[in-house]
Amino acid sequence: MIDLLIKNGEVLTAYGLLKTCIVVNDGKIVGLGSENLVSQAQKVIDASGKIVLPGLIDTHSHFREPGLTYKEDYTTGTMAGAAGGVTTAIDMPNVKPPTNTLERFEEKKKIAKSKAVIDFNHLVGVTDNKTETEVARRGERLNVIYVPLLEEIPKLAKAGAAGYKIFMADGVYPHPAELFLDDDGIFLELFEEVKKTRLTVSVHPYTTKILDHDIERFSRGGRTDPQSFWEARNHYGGMVWTSGIARLLPLQKATQVRLHVLHVHTSDSLNMIRSAKTQGQSITVEANPQHLFIKPSDIKKLGPFAVTATTEDNIEALWEALNDGTVDLIATDHAPHTKEEMEPGWKDIHGIPYGAPEIQDYLPLLLTEVNRGRISLETVSKLVSENVAKIFGIYPRKGVISIGSDADFVIVDMKREEKIKVGYTKCGWTPYEGRTVKGVPVITIVRGTVVMENSEILVKPGYGEWVPGPAYSRGSE
Ligand code: DOR
Ligand code: ZN
Repeated sequence: MIDLLIKNGEVLTAYGLLKTCIVVNDGKIVGLGSENLVSQAQKVIDASGKIVLPGLIDTHSHFREPGLTYKEDYTTGTMAGAAGGVTTAIDMPNVKPPTNTLERFEEKKKIAKSKAVIDFNHLVGVTDNKTETEVARRGERLNVIYVPLLEEIPKLAKAGAAGYKIFMADGVYPHPAELFLDDDGIFLELFEEVKKTRLTVSVHPYTTKILDHDIERFSRGGRTDPQSFWEARNHYGGMVWTSGIARLLPLQKATQVRLHVLHVHTSDSLNMIRSAKTQGQSITVEANPQHLFIKPSDIKKLGPFAVTATTEDNIEALWEALNDGTVDLIATDHAPHTKEEMEPGWKDIHGIPYGAPEIQDYLPLLLTEVNRGRISLETVSKLVSENVAKIFGIYPRKGVISIGSDADFVIVDMKREEKIKVGYTKCGWTPYEGRTVKGVPVITIVRGTVVMENSEILVKPGYGEWVPGPAYSRGSE
Protein backbone atom coordinates (compact mmCIF):
# COMPACT_ATOMS: atom_id res chain seq x y z
CA MET A 1 0.00 0.00 0.00
CA ILE A 2 1.30 3.43 -0.87
CA ASP A 3 1.33 6.34 1.57
CA LEU A 4 -0.58 9.09 -0.21
CA LEU A 5 -2.69 9.62 -3.31
CA ILE A 6 -3.75 13.08 -4.41
CA LYS A 7 -6.50 12.83 -6.99
CA ASN A 8 -8.86 14.93 -9.09
CA GLY A 9 -6.72 18.08 -8.92
CA GLU A 10 -4.98 20.03 -11.62
CA VAL A 11 -1.28 19.64 -11.05
CA LEU A 12 1.44 22.05 -12.10
CA THR A 13 4.11 19.57 -13.21
CA ALA A 14 7.41 20.01 -15.00
CA TYR A 15 5.33 19.57 -18.18
CA GLY A 16 2.74 22.22 -17.33
CA LEU A 17 -0.73 22.10 -15.81
CA LEU A 18 -2.12 18.54 -16.07
CA LYS A 19 -5.16 16.77 -14.74
CA THR A 20 -3.30 13.93 -13.05
CA CYS A 21 -2.96 12.01 -9.81
CA ILE A 22 0.12 12.18 -7.64
CA VAL A 23 1.36 9.04 -5.94
CA VAL A 24 3.61 9.46 -2.91
CA ASN A 25 5.64 6.94 -0.99
CA ASP A 26 8.31 7.47 1.69
CA GLY A 27 8.13 11.21 1.27
CA LYS A 28 8.87 11.12 -2.48
CA ILE A 29 6.78 11.43 -5.61
CA VAL A 30 6.71 7.93 -7.09
CA GLY A 31 4.07 8.30 -9.77
CA LEU A 32 2.04 10.74 -11.83
CA GLY A 33 -0.86 9.52 -13.91
CA SER A 34 -4.11 7.64 -13.59
CA GLU A 35 -5.71 6.72 -10.30
CA ASN A 36 -5.96 3.13 -11.57
CA LEU A 37 -2.20 2.80 -11.07
CA VAL A 38 -2.81 2.56 -7.34
CA SER A 39 -4.77 -0.16 -5.62
CA GLN A 40 -4.79 1.26 -2.11
CA ALA A 41 -3.41 4.29 -0.34
CA GLN A 42 -3.01 5.05 3.34
CA LYS A 43 -4.35 8.53 2.75
CA VAL A 44 -6.31 9.97 -0.17
CA ILE A 45 -6.71 13.69 -0.77
CA ASP A 46 -9.45 14.75 -3.13
CA ALA A 47 -8.23 17.92 -4.79
CA SER A 48 -11.33 18.47 -6.97
CA GLY A 49 -11.58 22.06 -8.10
CA LYS A 50 -8.13 22.87 -6.72
CA ILE A 51 -4.63 23.26 -8.12
CA VAL A 52 -1.59 21.45 -6.76
CA LEU A 53 1.62 23.50 -6.94
CA PRO A 54 5.18 22.66 -5.87
CA GLY A 55 5.69 23.84 -2.28
CA LEU A 56 7.19 27.30 -1.93
CA ILE A 57 10.84 27.78 -1.01
CA ASP A 58 11.61 30.97 0.83
CA THR A 59 15.27 31.99 0.81
CA HIS A 60 14.88 35.15 2.88
CA SER A 61 13.29 34.44 6.26
CA HIS A 62 14.37 36.18 9.45
CA PHE A 63 13.38 33.62 12.09
CA ARG A 64 15.37 35.42 14.80
CA GLU A 65 17.07 32.37 16.34
CA PRO A 66 19.16 32.45 18.36
CA GLY A 67 18.94 35.52 20.52
CA LEU A 68 15.95 37.49 19.24
CA THR A 69 13.14 35.04 19.90
CA TYR A 70 10.88 37.67 21.43
CA LYS A 71 10.12 38.64 17.79
CA GLU A 72 9.88 35.17 16.17
CA ASP A 73 11.31 31.67 16.56
CA TYR A 74 11.65 28.60 14.37
CA THR A 75 8.29 27.23 15.44
CA THR A 76 6.20 30.38 14.96
CA GLY A 77 8.09 31.40 11.82
CA THR A 78 7.84 28.02 10.13
CA MET A 79 4.18 27.65 11.19
CA ALA A 80 3.49 30.95 9.43
CA GLY A 81 5.40 29.56 6.44
CA ALA A 82 3.40 26.31 6.41
CA ALA A 83 0.14 28.27 6.57
CA GLY A 84 1.34 30.28 3.58
CA GLY A 85 2.27 27.27 1.41
CA VAL A 86 6.01 27.33 2.16
CA THR A 87 7.62 23.90 2.47
CA THR A 88 11.30 24.92 2.81
CA ALA A 89 12.65 28.10 4.42
CA ILE A 90 16.22 29.33 4.35
CA ASP A 91 16.83 31.91 7.02
CA MET A 92 19.21 34.76 7.63
CA PRO A 93 22.33 35.11 9.79
CA ASN A 94 21.60 38.48 11.47
CA VAL A 95 20.83 36.97 14.85
CA LYS A 96 22.57 37.05 18.22
CA PRO A 97 25.28 35.86 17.97
CA PRO A 98 25.40 36.11 14.17
CA THR A 99 25.69 32.88 12.18
CA ASN A 100 29.17 33.33 10.70
CA THR A 101 31.24 30.34 11.80
CA LEU A 102 30.97 26.58 11.39
CA GLU A 103 30.29 26.19 15.08
CA ARG A 104 27.42 28.66 15.06
CA PHE A 105 26.01 27.14 11.90
CA GLU A 106 25.91 23.71 13.53
CA GLU A 107 24.34 25.22 16.64
CA LYS A 108 21.64 26.89 14.56
CA LYS A 109 20.91 23.68 12.66
CA LYS A 110 20.29 21.95 15.98
CA ILE A 111 17.88 24.61 17.19
CA ALA A 112 15.98 24.55 13.91
CA LYS A 113 15.86 20.74 13.89
CA SER A 114 14.09 20.72 17.23
CA LYS A 115 11.59 23.46 16.39
CA ALA A 116 10.78 23.71 12.67
CA VAL A 117 7.55 22.35 11.15
CA ILE A 118 8.82 22.64 7.54
CA ASP A 119 12.20 21.92 5.94
CA PHE A 120 15.01 24.42 6.37
CA ASN A 121 18.58 25.57 5.87
CA HIS A 122 20.51 28.75 6.62
CA LEU A 123 22.52 31.47 4.93
CA VAL A 124 25.73 32.33 6.73
CA GLY A 125 27.73 35.52 7.21
CA VAL A 126 31.33 35.87 6.03
CA THR A 127 32.60 38.61 8.32
CA ASP A 128 32.87 39.11 12.08
CA ASN A 129 33.51 42.85 12.31
CA LYS A 130 34.45 44.72 15.43
CA THR A 131 33.11 48.16 16.26
CA GLU A 132 35.06 50.93 17.89
CA THR A 133 32.28 53.19 19.06
CA GLU A 134 28.90 52.65 20.62
CA VAL A 135 26.34 51.71 17.99
CA ALA A 136 23.91 54.62 17.79
CA ARG A 137 21.22 55.03 15.21
CA ARG A 138 22.02 57.97 12.95
CA GLY A 139 23.95 59.57 15.79
CA GLU A 140 27.60 58.97 16.30
CA ARG A 141 29.45 57.57 13.31
CA LEU A 142 29.98 53.91 13.68
CA ASN A 143 33.57 52.90 13.25
CA VAL A 144 33.58 49.37 11.86
CA ILE A 145 36.78 47.37 11.61
CA TYR A 146 36.10 44.72 8.99
CA VAL A 147 37.12 41.17 9.83
CA PRO A 148 36.56 38.87 6.80
CA LEU A 149 36.35 35.18 7.71
CA LEU A 150 37.95 33.73 4.58
CA GLU A 151 38.85 30.41 6.17
CA GLU A 152 35.26 29.73 7.30
CA ILE A 153 33.89 29.98 3.75
CA PRO A 154 34.94 26.52 2.44
CA LYS A 155 34.18 24.87 5.76
CA LEU A 156 30.64 26.21 5.75
CA ALA A 157 30.10 25.07 2.16
CA LYS A 158 31.18 21.52 2.98
CA ALA A 159 29.00 21.55 6.08
CA GLY A 160 26.00 22.14 3.81
CA ALA A 161 25.18 25.83 4.25
CA ALA A 162 22.68 27.10 1.68
CA GLY A 163 24.87 30.05 0.71
CA TYR A 164 26.37 33.27 2.08
CA LYS A 165 24.89 36.63 2.98
CA ILE A 166 26.47 40.07 3.11
CA PHE A 167 24.71 43.26 4.24
CA MET A 168 25.93 46.45 2.61
CA ALA A 169 23.37 48.14 4.84
CA ASP A 170 24.39 50.40 7.61
CA GLY A 171 25.68 48.28 10.45
CA VAL A 172 22.95 49.46 12.78
CA TYR A 173 20.41 46.94 14.03
CA PRO A 174 18.65 45.05 12.36
CA HIS A 175 21.76 45.04 10.18
CA PRO A 176 24.38 43.89 12.65
CA ALA A 177 27.80 45.48 12.57
CA GLU A 178 29.45 42.04 12.55
CA LEU A 179 27.97 41.26 9.13
CA PHE A 180 28.08 44.67 7.50
CA LEU A 181 30.47 45.40 4.64
CA ASP A 182 31.08 48.66 2.84
CA ASP A 183 34.58 48.06 1.48
CA ASP A 184 34.81 47.01 -2.17
CA GLY A 185 38.34 45.62 -1.77
CA ILE A 186 37.19 43.18 0.88
CA PHE A 187 34.15 42.38 -1.24
CA LEU A 188 36.52 41.25 -4.01
CA GLU A 189 38.51 39.05 -1.68
CA LEU A 190 35.39 37.44 -0.25
CA PHE A 191 33.80 36.95 -3.67
CA GLU A 192 36.95 35.15 -4.89
CA GLU A 193 36.72 32.74 -1.99
CA VAL A 194 32.98 32.19 -2.35
CA LYS A 195 33.39 31.59 -6.09
CA LYS A 196 35.51 28.51 -5.31
CA THR A 197 32.58 26.95 -3.42
CA ARG A 198 30.16 27.57 -6.32
CA LEU A 199 27.48 28.61 -3.83
CA THR A 200 25.60 31.87 -4.24
CA VAL A 201 26.37 34.96 -2.24
CA SER A 202 23.24 36.95 -1.41
CA VAL A 203 23.94 40.64 -1.02
CA HIS A 204 21.70 43.27 0.51
CA PRO A 205 22.64 46.30 -1.62
CA TYR A 206 22.68 49.79 -0.15
CA THR A 207 24.83 52.86 0.00
CA THR A 208 24.67 53.93 3.60
CA LYS A 209 26.25 57.32 3.08
CA ILE A 210 23.53 58.33 0.64
CA LEU A 211 20.80 57.33 3.06
CA ASP A 212 22.44 59.13 5.97
CA HIS A 213 22.83 62.22 3.87
CA ASP A 214 19.26 62.11 2.57
CA ILE A 215 17.81 61.57 6.00
CA GLU A 216 19.62 64.64 7.19
CA ARG A 217 18.41 66.72 4.25
CA PHE A 218 14.83 65.55 4.47
CA SER A 219 14.64 65.85 8.21
CA ARG A 220 15.73 69.46 8.27
CA GLY A 221 13.01 71.34 10.06
CA GLY A 222 12.67 68.52 12.55
CA ARG A 223 10.77 65.97 10.47
CA THR A 224 10.96 62.48 11.94
CA ASP A 225 7.58 61.22 10.66
CA PRO A 226 7.24 57.99 8.59
CA GLN A 227 6.65 59.97 5.39
CA SER A 228 10.01 61.75 5.77
CA PHE A 229 11.85 58.42 5.91
CA TRP A 230 10.00 57.23 2.82
CA GLU A 231 11.06 60.43 1.02
CA ALA A 232 14.70 59.88 2.03
CA ARG A 233 14.80 56.23 1.00
CA ASN A 234 13.06 56.90 -2.27
CA HIS A 235 14.96 60.02 -3.21
CA TYR A 236 15.85 59.81 -6.95
CA GLY A 237 13.67 56.68 -7.21
CA GLY A 238 15.70 54.86 -4.53
CA MET A 239 19.29 55.95 -5.21
CA VAL A 240 20.34 54.34 -1.93
CA TRP A 241 19.60 50.94 -3.50
CA THR A 242 20.48 51.66 -7.11
CA SER A 243 23.96 52.88 -6.30
CA GLY A 244 24.65 49.81 -4.14
CA ILE A 245 23.77 47.57 -7.08
CA ALA A 246 25.88 49.70 -9.44
CA ARG A 247 28.88 48.93 -7.21
CA LEU A 248 28.19 45.21 -7.08
CA LEU A 249 27.93 44.52 -10.80
CA PRO A 250 31.62 45.09 -11.69
CA LEU A 251 32.71 43.17 -8.58
CA GLN A 252 30.71 40.20 -9.87
CA LYS A 253 32.12 40.59 -13.37
CA ALA A 254 35.68 40.56 -12.08
CA THR A 255 35.31 37.56 -9.80
CA GLN A 256 32.60 35.57 -11.63
CA VAL A 257 30.98 34.77 -8.30
CA ARG A 258 27.34 33.64 -8.36
CA LEU A 259 25.84 36.88 -7.13
CA HIS A 260 22.27 36.94 -5.86
CA VAL A 261 21.02 40.50 -5.40
CA LEU A 262 18.38 40.97 -2.71
CA HIS A 263 15.42 43.36 -2.44
CA VAL A 264 15.77 44.59 -6.03
CA HIS A 265 12.99 47.03 -6.86
CA THR A 266 14.19 50.31 -8.33
CA SER A 267 13.47 50.85 -11.98
CA ASP A 268 17.05 52.05 -12.61
CA SER A 269 18.66 49.03 -10.99
CA LEU A 270 16.37 46.66 -12.92
CA ASN A 271 17.56 48.25 -16.14
CA MET A 272 21.22 47.93 -15.13
CA ILE A 273 20.75 44.28 -14.21
CA ARG A 274 18.86 43.57 -17.42
CA SER A 275 21.81 44.79 -19.42
CA ALA A 276 24.38 42.97 -17.26
CA LYS A 277 22.43 39.73 -17.69
CA THR A 278 22.32 40.25 -21.45
CA GLN A 279 26.09 40.40 -21.39
CA GLY A 280 26.21 37.04 -19.67
CA GLN A 281 26.90 38.09 -16.09
CA SER A 282 25.98 35.48 -13.49
CA ILE A 283 23.52 37.55 -11.51
CA THR A 284 20.23 36.43 -10.05
CA VAL A 285 17.61 38.78 -8.70
CA GLU A 286 15.29 38.64 -5.71
CA ALA A 287 12.08 40.64 -5.45
CA ASN A 288 10.10 40.99 -2.20
CA PRO A 289 6.35 41.14 -1.62
CA GLN A 290 6.58 44.45 0.24
CA HIS A 291 7.77 46.15 -2.96
CA LEU A 292 4.81 44.74 -4.91
CA PHE A 293 1.98 45.04 -2.42
CA ILE A 294 2.66 48.03 -0.13
CA LYS A 295 1.85 51.34 -1.73
CA PRO A 296 3.24 54.73 -0.77
CA SER A 297 -0.35 55.74 0.03
CA ASP A 298 -0.45 53.03 2.73
CA ILE A 299 1.96 55.07 4.84
CA LYS A 300 -0.84 57.47 5.83
CA LYS A 301 -2.84 54.71 7.47
CA LEU A 302 -0.08 52.31 8.53
CA GLY A 303 2.77 54.72 9.33
CA PRO A 304 5.82 52.78 10.58
CA PHE A 305 4.15 49.48 9.64
CA ALA A 306 4.39 50.42 5.94
CA VAL A 307 7.88 51.81 6.03
CA THR A 308 9.06 49.32 3.40
CA ALA A 309 6.97 50.98 0.64
CA THR A 310 8.65 51.96 -2.60
CA THR A 311 7.32 54.35 -5.30
CA GLU A 312 4.42 53.75 -7.70
CA ASP A 313 6.87 53.86 -10.63
CA ASN A 314 9.09 51.24 -9.06
CA ILE A 315 6.11 48.99 -8.34
CA GLU A 316 5.16 49.12 -12.02
CA ALA A 317 8.75 48.44 -13.12
CA LEU A 318 9.01 45.49 -10.75
CA TRP A 319 5.85 43.84 -12.10
CA GLU A 320 7.26 44.21 -15.58
CA ALA A 321 10.53 42.63 -14.45
CA LEU A 322 8.71 39.66 -12.90
CA ASN A 323 7.02 39.01 -16.20
CA ASP A 324 10.05 39.49 -18.49
CA GLY A 325 12.45 37.30 -16.47
CA THR A 326 14.72 40.03 -15.10
CA VAL A 327 13.60 38.94 -11.63
CA ASP A 328 14.53 35.32 -10.94
CA LEU A 329 12.72 34.68 -7.70
CA ILE A 330 10.40 36.10 -5.08
CA ALA A 331 11.49 35.63 -1.47
CA THR A 332 9.79 37.14 1.53
CA ASP A 333 12.28 39.15 3.58
CA HIS A 334 9.97 38.05 6.40
CA ALA A 335 11.38 40.44 9.02
CA PRO A 336 9.17 40.50 12.12
CA HIS A 337 9.57 43.14 14.83
CA THR A 338 7.13 43.51 17.72
CA LYS A 339 4.37 46.13 17.73
CA GLU A 340 6.02 47.72 20.75
CA GLU A 341 9.21 48.16 18.74
CA MET A 342 7.37 49.63 15.75
CA GLU A 343 4.78 51.93 17.41
CA PRO A 344 7.25 54.69 18.43
CA GLY A 345 7.92 55.10 14.69
CA TRP A 346 4.79 57.23 14.31
CA LYS A 347 6.73 59.99 16.07
CA ASP A 348 10.36 59.06 15.50
CA ILE A 349 10.79 56.87 12.46
CA HIS A 350 14.58 56.74 12.90
CA GLY A 351 14.29 55.08 16.29
CA ILE A 352 12.73 51.82 15.07
CA PRO A 353 13.94 48.71 13.22
CA TYR A 354 13.05 48.07 9.61
CA GLY A 355 10.96 45.23 8.16
CA ALA A 356 7.61 43.44 8.25
CA PRO A 357 6.23 39.89 8.48
CA GLU A 358 5.51 38.48 5.00
CA ILE A 359 5.83 34.69 4.87
CA GLN A 360 2.19 33.77 5.52
CA ASP A 361 0.66 36.27 3.12
CA TYR A 362 2.76 36.42 -0.04
CA LEU A 363 1.21 33.45 -1.84
CA PRO A 364 -2.44 34.61 -1.48
CA LEU A 365 -1.40 38.13 -2.51
CA LEU A 366 0.30 36.72 -5.63
CA LEU A 367 -2.60 34.39 -6.45
CA THR A 368 -4.96 37.38 -6.26
CA GLU A 369 -2.88 39.00 -9.02
CA VAL A 370 -3.07 35.76 -11.04
CA ASN A 371 -6.87 36.00 -10.77
CA ARG A 372 -6.67 39.61 -11.92
CA GLY A 373 -4.57 38.59 -14.94
CA ARG A 374 -1.47 40.54 -13.97
CA ILE A 375 0.80 37.48 -13.99
CA SER A 376 0.35 33.82 -14.89
CA LEU A 377 0.17 31.01 -12.36
CA GLU A 378 3.09 29.29 -14.11
CA THR A 379 5.28 32.37 -13.74
CA VAL A 380 4.38 32.80 -10.08
CA SER A 381 5.19 29.17 -9.38
CA LYS A 382 8.57 29.43 -11.13
CA LEU A 383 9.38 32.56 -9.10
CA VAL A 384 8.52 31.03 -5.72
CA SER A 385 9.59 27.40 -6.24
CA GLU A 386 11.41 26.11 -9.32
CA ASN A 387 13.80 29.00 -9.92
CA VAL A 388 14.54 29.22 -6.20
CA ALA A 389 15.50 25.56 -6.00
CA LYS A 390 17.70 25.89 -9.09
CA ILE A 391 19.54 28.98 -7.86
CA PHE A 392 20.20 27.47 -4.44
CA GLY A 393 21.24 24.09 -5.85
CA ILE A 394 18.47 21.93 -4.34
CA TYR A 395 16.67 21.20 -7.63
CA PRO A 396 15.12 18.70 -8.48
CA ARG A 397 14.90 17.40 -4.92
CA LYS A 398 12.80 20.51 -4.22
CA GLY A 399 10.90 22.97 -6.40
CA VAL A 400 9.19 20.68 -8.89
CA ILE A 401 6.44 18.07 -9.13
CA SER A 402 8.30 15.28 -10.83
CA ILE A 403 8.98 11.61 -10.13
CA GLY A 404 11.79 11.23 -7.60
CA SER A 405 11.35 14.70 -6.09
CA ASP A 406 10.34 15.34 -2.48
CA ALA A 407 6.55 15.31 -2.10
CA ASP A 408 6.30 19.00 -1.17
CA PHE A 409 3.07 20.60 -2.33
CA VAL A 410 0.70 23.42 -1.72
CA ILE A 411 -2.89 22.87 -2.78
CA VAL A 412 -4.58 26.15 -3.64
CA ASP A 413 -8.19 27.15 -4.09
CA MET A 414 -8.18 29.85 -6.72
CA LYS A 415 -11.82 30.71 -6.15
CA ARG A 416 -11.82 31.13 -2.39
CA GLU A 417 -11.92 34.70 -1.08
CA GLU A 418 -10.65 35.63 2.35
CA LYS A 419 -9.66 38.65 4.36
CA ILE A 420 -6.07 38.56 5.58
CA LYS A 421 -5.77 38.24 9.37
CA VAL A 422 -2.73 38.26 11.60
CA GLY A 423 -1.35 34.73 11.39
CA TYR A 424 1.19 32.63 13.25
CA THR A 425 4.01 35.16 13.41
CA LYS A 426 4.94 36.04 16.97
CA CYS A 427 5.18 39.75 16.18
CA GLY A 428 1.38 40.04 16.18
CA TRP A 429 0.78 42.23 13.11
CA THR A 430 0.80 42.24 9.34
CA PRO A 431 0.75 45.22 7.01
CA TYR A 432 -1.86 43.35 4.93
CA GLU A 433 -4.48 42.92 7.67
CA GLY A 434 -8.02 43.33 6.30
CA ARG A 435 -7.08 42.98 2.61
CA THR A 436 -9.30 40.76 0.54
CA VAL A 437 -7.46 38.05 -1.37
CA LYS A 438 -8.82 35.61 -3.92
CA GLY A 439 -6.76 32.42 -4.25
CA VAL A 440 -5.51 30.83 -1.02
CA PRO A 441 -3.43 27.84 0.10
CA VAL A 442 -5.68 25.24 1.71
CA ILE A 443 -3.28 22.32 2.25
CA THR A 444 0.52 22.27 2.59
CA ILE A 445 2.38 18.97 2.33
CA VAL A 446 6.02 18.42 3.26
CA ARG A 447 7.62 15.11 2.23
CA GLY A 448 4.22 13.46 1.93
CA THR A 449 2.83 14.64 5.27
CA VAL A 450 0.05 17.23 5.57
CA VAL A 451 1.56 19.98 7.72
CA MET A 452 -1.28 22.50 7.24
CA GLU A 453 -4.95 22.15 6.41
CA ASN A 454 -7.32 25.12 6.40
CA SER A 455 -4.85 27.24 8.36
CA GLU A 456 -4.38 24.62 11.06
CA ILE A 457 -0.88 23.22 11.67
CA LEU A 458 -1.01 19.44 11.94
CA VAL A 459 2.57 18.45 12.81
CA LYS A 460 4.68 18.98 15.88
CA PRO A 461 7.75 21.21 16.08
CA GLY A 462 10.69 19.09 14.95
CA TYR A 463 8.95 17.61 11.88
CA GLY A 464 11.03 19.84 9.61
CA GLU A 465 14.27 18.43 8.19
CA TRP A 466 17.50 20.15 7.28
CA VAL A 467 18.03 20.37 3.50
CA PRO A 468 21.79 20.41 2.86
CA GLY A 469 23.20 22.87 0.37
CA PRO A 470 24.79 21.63 -2.90
CA ALA A 471 28.40 21.60 -1.66
CA TYR A 472 27.61 19.38 1.32
CA SER A 473 30.00 16.52 1.80
CA ARG A 474 29.15 13.95 4.39
CA GLY A 475 31.59 13.53 7.24
CA SER A 476 32.78 17.13 7.01
CA GLU A 477 31.33 18.04 10.43
O1 DOR B 1 13.87 44.86 6.14
C1 DOR B 1 14.82 44.23 6.58
N1 DOR B 1 14.79 43.78 7.84
N2 DOR B 1 15.92 44.01 5.82
C2 DOR B 1 17.00 43.40 6.31
O2 DOR B 1 17.91 43.18 5.59
C3 DOR B 1 17.07 43.06 7.73
C4 DOR B 1 15.72 42.81 8.21
C5 DOR B 1 15.61 42.51 9.66
O3 DOR B 1 16.39 41.71 10.15
O4 DOR B 1 14.68 43.02 10.31
ZN1 ZN C 1 16.29 40.66 5.03
